Amino acid sequence: ERSLLGLKPLSRSEISSLLDRAAYWESEPHKVIPILESRFVANMFFENSTRTRFSFEMAEKRLGAQVLNFAAAASSVAKGESIMDTVRTLEAMGIDAGVIRLKPIGLLPEIAEAVSIPLINAGDGNNEHPTQALLDLYTMKKQFGDLKGLRVSIIGDVAHSRVARSNLWALQKFGAEVQFCAPPSMRAPELADSAPYVSMEEALVADVVMILRVQLERHTGDLFKSPEEYRIHYGLTEDRASTLAKHTIIMHPAPINRNVEIDDAVVESGQSRIFNQMSNGVPIRMAVMERAMKL
Ligand code: CP
Repeated sequence: ERSLLGLKPLSRSEISSLLDRAAYWESEPHKVIPILESRFVANMFFENSTRTRFSFEMAEKRLGAQVLNFAAAASSVAKGESIMDTVRTLEAMGIDAGVIRLKPIGLLPEIAEAVSIPLINAGDGNNEHPTQALLDLYTMKKQFGDLKGLRVSIIGDVAHSRVARSNLWALQKFGAEVQFCAPPSMRAPELADSAPYVSMEEALVADVVMILRVQLERHTGDLFKSPEEYRIHYGLTEDRASTLAKHTIIMHPAPINRNVEIDDAVVESGQSRIFNQMSNGVPIRMAVMERAMKL
């Protein structure tokens, strides 16, 4: 299987191979290693992105691929063309693989059935964001060496988070202990049997504290009173961060609502790995593209 639609169906050894291959690409001293020369890949983002979109493009160009960037707002999607027809159009033109970010849940497997090129999930609704979780695992592995027994607290807007889901599925395969902390209005009932919800105090006793963005654009109705109120109860404030063990690392997939879910000073602190996560996104996506497009 060359597509990467999610981490839930992947085995531990498949994930390990991708992490190992990312380590290889990170250690590669040459910026461009054109193993995908003459191969065409389209980055099809039907939702906005900075990190995922540009790190895929970096990864693809580092591997020498020909890159087509598709922006939904400037395309015939704005005239009402469907996502399915858009992907099929690019396939008909001859792309060899597609990276896709989209909102409607359940559409990605349907598209993958309908086309014969490999598809890489760059985030589908609140379902999965596999390359984000891969770069998160990679970041944790670099820090701790082994994921087994690692306590990972995922704090914040779990209900709307594809990052939380992909991390949960992947971390549990490696024997990590995942726990959630979220306001009642931002909990995901369908995940209740998969990991416990703990208090903020308990969540801070962990090896990894992963803060999630409050995803205002996905909220229907008022899920919290105000950013100030959210920060008081669920924010990783400077005060709370000062109670973390010295070895604990702080992660956030970004973009960040600074001084809402995490204080400015905490983002910039010595325990923060947030910008390392962004750097790690490039070798991870090189590994994923290599797997998808290898001849
Ligand atoms: N972490 C992440 O997916 O960021 P973007 O939305 O900017 O791609």
